[in-house]
Amino acid sequence: MTGKIIGTGSYLPELVWDNHKLTEWLDTNDEWIRERTGIGQRHISKDLGAGKMALEAAKKAMEDAGKAGLGAEDLDAIFVCTVTPDIMVPSIACEIQKMLGAVNAFAYDINAACSGFVFVYNMAVAYMETGLIKNALIIGSEQLSSMMDWNDRSSCILFGDGAGAVVVTACEQKGASVMHSDGASGEALQCVTGGKLSMDGQKVFRFALKRVPEVVEEILAKMEMEKEQVDLFLLHQANMRIIEAVIKRLGLEPEKVPSNIDRMGNTSSASLPILLDELNREGKLRTGMKLVMAGFGAGLTWGAGYITT
Ligand code: UT7
Repeated sequence: MTGKIIGTGSYLPELVWDNHKLTEWLDTNDEWIRERTGIGQRHISKDLGAGKMALEAAKKAMEDAGKAGLGAEDLDAIFVCTVTPDIMVPSIACEIQKMLGAVNAFAYDINAACSGFVFVYNMAVAYMETGLIKNALIIGSEQLSSMMDWNDRSSCILFGDGAGAVVVTACEQKGASVMHSDGASGEALQCVTGGKLSMDGQKVFRFALKRVPEVVEEILAKMEMEKEQVDLFLLHQANMRIIEAVIKRLGLEPEKVPSNIDRMGNTSSASLPILLDELNREGKLRTGMKLVMAGFGAGLTWGAGYITT
């Protein structure tokens, strides 16, 4: 069993801060940020929190899924992953269930940081395998600007705000999931509730360079697939140098590893669904494609999922 994408949507705040904007108060420059991260700009949400951004993305994904004949009442589950919930109770997912009128869906939020979208997608497929659900709306939404220390140039330059949503339906084809956590290394990237994020950038960098290739190889082995058989590898958009290093280490064709980090920065759990929505809107997702997604982040957590179109 695997998941098949039948609708995508995203929400990006109108306000955009390019690297030059950050130099108004930070000792940094466009060249350093581009060279070390590949990031040129990020969206910043001043007015909408993770909940409202998630709703906007969800509405667009449902509109898209409507073309395939799927309506809100056909949803069996709604999952939101976020590390920046603007409401804790009820969950953002339950709010979205109400707003969409998805009366047959159960709904809840999870936090798996930047691995969130992969983890929650794998969880949805596990539910599909038990027969509990057929159709799920999966959303990653983050207002990371609210947890940035905007005077910490080694972390704030990386992150951006936004939301992405994907409607997936159960598909009777082979699938595979891989998920890992290393709580003992959690201090590398942390934030207490209401506080500001602190990160050991180099530690996270080294962790990503080791774990992302590993997890991609793990899922290919589980799928009994060669990398050449995969149409697209969708990697969490954290740093272009990490993406390029993974491409090199695994010998992937660069055109099979799309990226939008230059325009988005790192949007944590929203990065993969925003990327999927861009590819979809650009007509780059054709029926029957084989996609491998991989995420990594705070926890530490890392994982990969297989999804089709
Ligand atoms: O979703 C997971 C989220 N986290 C990540 O993916 C983070 C992974 N790590 C990274 O992306 C990189 O480690 C960073 C982009 C955060 C930092 O890049 P780096 O190449 O590891 O730089 P560094 O920390 O080794 O710093 C090199 C130099 C230092 O100066 P000195 O000591 O060599 O004089 C820093 O003080 O660059 C300096 N520096 C900056 N200079 C200009 C650090 N941040 C900046 C900055 N602008 N924004």
